[in-house]
Amino acid sequence: IQWEKQVRNSAQIHRRGGMAVLVTGAGGFVGSHVSLALKRRGDGVVGLDNFNNYYDPSLKKARKSLLNDNGVFIVEGDVNDAKLLAKLFDVVVFTHVMHLAAQAGVRYAMENPQSYVHSNIAGLVTLLEACKSADPQPAIVWASSSSVYGLNEKVPFSELDRTDQPASLYAATKKAGEEITHTYNHIYGLSITGLRFFTVYGPWGRPDMAYFSFTRSILQGKAITIYRGKNQVDLARDFTFIDDIVKGCVGSLDTAGKSTGSGGKKRGPAPYRIFNLGNTSPVTVPTLVNILERHLKVKAKRNIVDMPGNGDVPFTHANISLAQRELGYKPTTDLQTGLKKFVTWYLSYYGYDHEKSVN
Ligand code: NAD
Ligand code: UGA
Repeated sequence: IQWEKQVRNSAQIHRRGGMAVLVTGAGGFVGSHVSLALKRRGDGVVGLDNFNNYYDPSLKKARKSLLNDNGVFIVEGDVNDAKLLAKLFDVVVFTHVMHLAAQAGVRYAMENPQSYVHSNIAGLVTLLEACKSADPQPAIVWASSSSVYGLNEKVPFSELDRTDQPASLYAATKKAGEEITHTYNHIYGLSITGLRFFTVYGPWGRPDMAYFSFTRSILQGKAITIYRGKNQVDLARDFTFIDDIVKGCVGSLDTAGKSTGSGGKKRGPAPYRIFNLGNTSPVTVPTLVNILERHLKVKAKRNIVDMPGNGDVPFTHANISLAQRELGYKPTTDLQTGLKKFVTWYLSYYGYDHEKSVN
């Protein structure tokens, strides 16, 4: 009963025409930011997260407290738990689902492939089944990944470009997610929007990602390992700041419409959309390190090695004209500015002595 009350309160809508959104992965980096943004403008938000230990669970718990202080309740549970999902859909009529729960990370897929199948494939299907049965059906926005472009060398990447050469199992599960969601759209009329995020960074970020782990190591005086691609070419990423990604997510929810609970028949075919959310300005990994050094005022000890395995793609670069046109998406934060904001957050959260840092 207490649980139900917390869920209902959290789902309360405080603006005219507002949405009631289930945010999966709300304890995560992107999920916590999106939940806060929605709550702040008066939408109802309920989070779901299994708080797994892929990275520092205390950081996830800290995000949970932050959300709790702002009126967002996160249910602790797995997207594979069909009973829990049925209960949630019973308690709240969700107009939208923002599905961000996943096993992220490219290289970890070589260590623990099953965790990707569990969260990114089985978990996605369990969630879609719950949405399919809900009445009315919620519109779904979910995170795919720039990694689906794989070894495609034609840049910048556009949504219709080939995605048949995944370089990692992570990429393969995201590509599979696109096929699975497309099928649910086709058969059951679910409204689906897939977002291909490009290497997202910022405050409250993921400790497993390069910009975060480099910051930690540089401050601790430890060497960082910089991977270099084939023929000694630097790897490059279209690093995208979290606030820009949040705007793209919210814009996607706002334009996703609502499914109707009758297979979309009342409103014509339910939409199936895919968008790149990137920055359109790739930067090499050594340049990322240079910027961090300047912000931290500490020299990095560089250890440059050939890329281990073949999981990393050489470069990413988004063409965002479709998102610009349809969602009004326009990234405004360059890497220098965004990393400054990250470093400021990092130092205020961990301090220089890294008391809270466990990784
Ligand atoms: P994150 O790991 O910080 O967040 C994911 C959250 O989902 C975590 O809190 C985790 O505990 C939770 N989770 C994982 N499996 C779950 C399950 N089975 N049930 C319930 N909760 C589960 O990652 P993020 O960077 O916030 O990424 C969010 C989404 O965006 C993911 O789908 C990721 O694949 C995708 N993505 C991220 C990036 C990026 O650069 N951050 C880029 C492309 C795509
Ligand atoms: C990131 C996220 O981790 C994925 O979850 C996401 O799906 C992906 O973006 C995406 O855009 O779709 P990645 O770009 O590999 O993946 O991000 P990082 O792990 O932060 O790596 C960034 C770059 O730094 C890569 O070129 C990587 O090879 C390099 N790197 C990473 C190093 O040089 N050294 C390291 O120790 C770690």
